[in-house]
Amino acid sequence: MSFQYDMSDFSEVLVSENAIGRKLDEMSAAIRADYEGKDLLLVGVLKGAVMVMADLARRMPPSVQMDWMAVSSYGSGTKSSGVVRILKDLDADLTGRHVLIVEDIIDTGVTLSWLLGNLRSRGAASVEIAALLRKPAAAVVDVPVRYIGFDIPPDFVVGYGLDFAENYRTLPFVAVLKPEVYER
Ligand code: XMP
Ligand code: MG
Repeated sequence: MSFQYDMSDFSEVLVSENAIGRKLDEMSAAIRADYEGKDLLLVGVLKGAVMVMADLARRMPPSVQMDWMAVSSYGSGTKSSGVVRILKDLDADLTGRHVLIVEDIIDTGVTLSWLLGNLRSRGAASVEIAALLRKPAAAVVDVPVRYIGFDIPPDFVVGYGLDFAENYRTLPFVAVLKPEVYER
């Protein structure tokens, strides 16, 4: 990758592109082993999970399917509202399916615990969670995560799908956004 990023908006690169790739190798190996012989449906949560979904899915056999949901819990700021709305529902019928929710980040856990309950009520054979990032210090509800990438401090992070006001999603790494950027 040859694009030169202006790094002055970030106080720190928390997870490098290489570290993400190595972690996804590990996570995908565990997922492939656990779901061998089962029809797995990956459910990506738009828009933040687009990068982790794409990179996880390309480490999966071709029988693994993808579907997408969009939920909103944040608005455009950096604080969770606690209110979850479905903006786009799944296309797939979950009856009898093995479902793995693919998420970018677990912050308070409010979004995922709501989503877990919602998908479990649809008659799936199983519903589990894979998340690239988790902020243990920010947890409000405990979410049972089967596959986790990195535990990180409770700072606001961007990149690799994560945004601030829709910017920074394209970064191939995860970085801490300087507070002066979102406070200005
Ligand atoms: P909760 O608090 O419900 O939030 O676990 C999950 C959703 O909130 C967003 N989120 C972030 N987005 N940087 C972001 O760009 C962050 O540090 C951050 N923390 C939470 C994200 O959309 C996630 O799905
Ligand atoms: Mg967001």
